[in-house]
Amino acid sequence: MQLRDMTTIDTVACVGAGTIGGGWAAYFLARGLTVRVWDPSPDAPEKLRRLIDNAWPALTELGLADGADRDAWSVHTDLAEALEGVGFVQESAPENLGLKQQLLADIAQAAPADVVIGSSTSGYGMTEMAEKLTDDQQAARLVVGHPFNPPYLIPLVEVVGGERTSEEVVDWAAEWYDAIGKSVIRMNREVPGFIANRLQEALWREALHMVENGEATVEQIDRSITDGPGLRWPLQGPMLTFHLAGGEGGMAHMLDHFGPSLLSPWTRLDAPELTPELRDAVVAGCDYEVGDRRFDELVRARDASVIAVRKAMAEIRKTYPGGAEGATTE
Ligand SMILES: NC(=O)c1ccc[n+]([C@@H]2O[C@H](COP(=O)([O-])OP(=O)(O)OC[C@H]3O[C@@H](n4cnc5c(N)ncnc54)[C@H](O)[C@@H]3O)[C@@H](O)[C@H]2O)c1
Repeated sequence: MQLRDMTTIDTVACVGAGTIGGGWAAYFLARGLTVRVWDPSPDAPEKLRRLIDNAWPALTELGLADGADRDAWSVHTDLAEALEGVGFVQESAPENLGLKQQLLADIAQAAPADVVIGSSTSGYGMTEMAEKLTDDQQAARLVVGHPFNPPYLIPLVEVVGGERTSEEVVDWAAEWYDAIGKSVIRMNREVPGFIANRLQEALWREALHMVENGEATVEQIDRSITDGPGLRWPLQGPMLTFHLAGGEGGMAHMLDHFGPSLLSPWTRLDAPELTPELRDAVVAGCDYEVGDRRFDELVRARDASVIAVRKAMAEIRKTYPGGAEGATTE
């Protein structure tokens, strides 16, 4: 399969430009690329302008590529027009299977034949998303490139193909995201929720149970992570963290010692029932935590803290290598 020479790519497309697509657009701009956007919402250009303006200080602080221009983007009313001359497509439309199936088929139809198409989906496999494509050659160039919010700041991208995605395309996508500065996990098989979302959702499930049972408030739950285990995770992740918790006996001692008593917490809970009461309690708890801070203030605060952590971790890793391998791009 003939794929685009990635060193020649200067223009990319973002299809869907909400929270994630807009975040990708800001990131691509900071890497010196031109971005062509397609989004059916009439207020998409205005929202994208705001998102880029909010993201640009953070991107500037992390370092812009030569020639990066925050205005090098255009929004098009026609999908085929938006895809003209692009070397890569990132799809970030709403998480709706039927919509994505049709949209990916339309993109594959309109995009140049040697262009790889990445999807930001946070839950669907490419096998099911590519079902509408009858042409195997077109299905072969569709791949999941799952980012984290905000994509302009969080390095991780999980790359995984579907049953009909060519291996070459998965390799190309992994190399592409790496070349533009992302931290790539290339997965060999489709897994529901990929890796990080499964972990995040397990934690969130427990948190929802605690709110539902009146065991903890939303604020207590957030602080238990930000002032607790969250501080250990930037370097060592949950596995190495527990390895150290086992003392000199490491993970083996940890599992042998605590494994039997952990059976109960590991198996106690199913998904909580998302009742209107639980929904309202969680929303009210978040509103309380947010207080009178505006959305853009919260975004700037989050961005400043992610930058601070990334910079600190880049220094720490120089002295203490051996954390979660490959988890940084600095
Ligand atoms: N929000 C997150 O934290 C997050 C993280 C990782 C991945 N994702 C994934 O990214 C994708 C987008 O999520 P989001 O949070 O940015 O949603 P969003 O609602 O903020 O943005 C979706 C955008 O798609 C546009 N849109 C609607 N119909 C469309 C169509 N037919 N074609 C193209 N665009 C269309 C909307 O106008 C909107 O601007 C989803 O697949 C989601 O699972 C989200």
